[in-house]
Amino acid sequence: MATRSTAVLAGLGGWLPPRVVDNAELTARLDTSDEWIRTRTGIRERRVVDAGMSTVDMSVEAGGRALRSAGLERVDAVVLATATPDQPCPASAPQVASRLGQRDAAAFDVNAVCSGFVYALATAAGLIAAGVARDVLVVGADAFTTLLDPGDRGTVPIFGDGAGAAVLREGRDGEAGAIGPFDLHSDGEHAELLVVPAGGSRQKEPEQPSDRYLRMEGQAVFRHATTRMAESSRAVLDGLGWTVGEVDRFVGHQANIRILNTVAKQLGLPADSLVVNIERTGNTSAASIPLALVDGVRDGSLRPGDRVLLAAFGAGFTWGATGLRWPDVPVEAVR
Ligand code: ACO
Repeated sequence: MATRSTAVLAGLGGWLPPRVVDNAELTARLDTSDEWIRTRTGIRERRVVDAGMSTVDMSVEAGGRALRSAGLERVDAVVLATATPDQPCPASAPQVASRLGQRDAAAFDVNAVCSGFVYALATAAGLIAAGVARDVLVVGADAFTTLLDPGDRGTVPIFGDGAGAAVLREGRDGEAGAIGPFDLHSDGEHAELLVVPAGGSRQKEPEQPSDRYLRMEGQAVFRHATTRMAESSRAVLDGLGWTVGEVDRFVGHQANIRILNTVAKQLGLPADSLVVNIERTGNTSAASIPLALVDGVRDGSLRPGDRVLLAAFGAGFTWGATGLRWPDVPVEAVR
């Protein structure tokens, strides 16, 4: 599946909750070590929501920054990519829209877990291409730590919380920031490899408290993630007519530094083309790509005119990629 669109990236913002949990804090309560976490994942610290803080709260912070970055007060639609809405029902996007003063905007959630931001960008580009909306706020936000068993060393070191956002506006093909084509896929056969078993419509009888926690088969997920992100990236390069050598920056979902390095190797991309911020964020699920984009702009590794490839993989399984020439957008500090 591939689409062409004239949606243009016009604004970008990100936000992380203030509480820092470093590896030392985890080693005090889990059977793990700073060395294991750093060498196996690339993570040194992550941000975690305090009690009372939610996906909507983080989305409002990131969304407000993206609107200011775009110089816009009003958008026609708000698309929120999240797997951790504030409640199972209703969707969280309308609350984000209201709190950002977008009371009559279309607003809905997209759940493709860690691929959510790429899926939400494609959805927003589709709304623009169909003439349904001119300006769309796309937010990727997750409070994934709320799904973790606090005693599980297999998941707790990996995930963090955060939100990132972008504004897409109607534009012309070929201008800086024009995004697409998109390559999106899924394979539900592997849902059980990365799953929260309870809390949905398929009730567990009897439900155990641990059924509300994320279960992950890390090695299997790792293998699928590398293969699929590389495949999807190649499809987008074909669609754009770019060679691998023409890619200036690869911004992949920040799940594990070893996954990013493996994908780069499979594609033949030099390691210094990777935009990486996982050491300070952990895996923030749908927030990870926009937060990496924000950090890339702030530290100067993403510059106007750069050819940028985005790729993600998440639970479901879902995966996808897209590309754009980086536009000149102002970006506020995340923290
Ligand atoms: N500290 C110390 N040792 C640990 C830890 C830990 N935190 N976790 C696991 N180990 C041990 C294991 O018990 C195992 O020990 P053993 O050899 O004695 O049996 C050993 O380390 C190796 O375990 P593996 O699971 O093989 O470790 P691996 O190198 O695969 O790393 C990891 C695990 C980091 C989870 C990796 O597999 C990974 O990143 N997978 C992908 C995960 C991912 O991307 N998830 C998110 C997808 S996106 C989404 O939608 C949510």
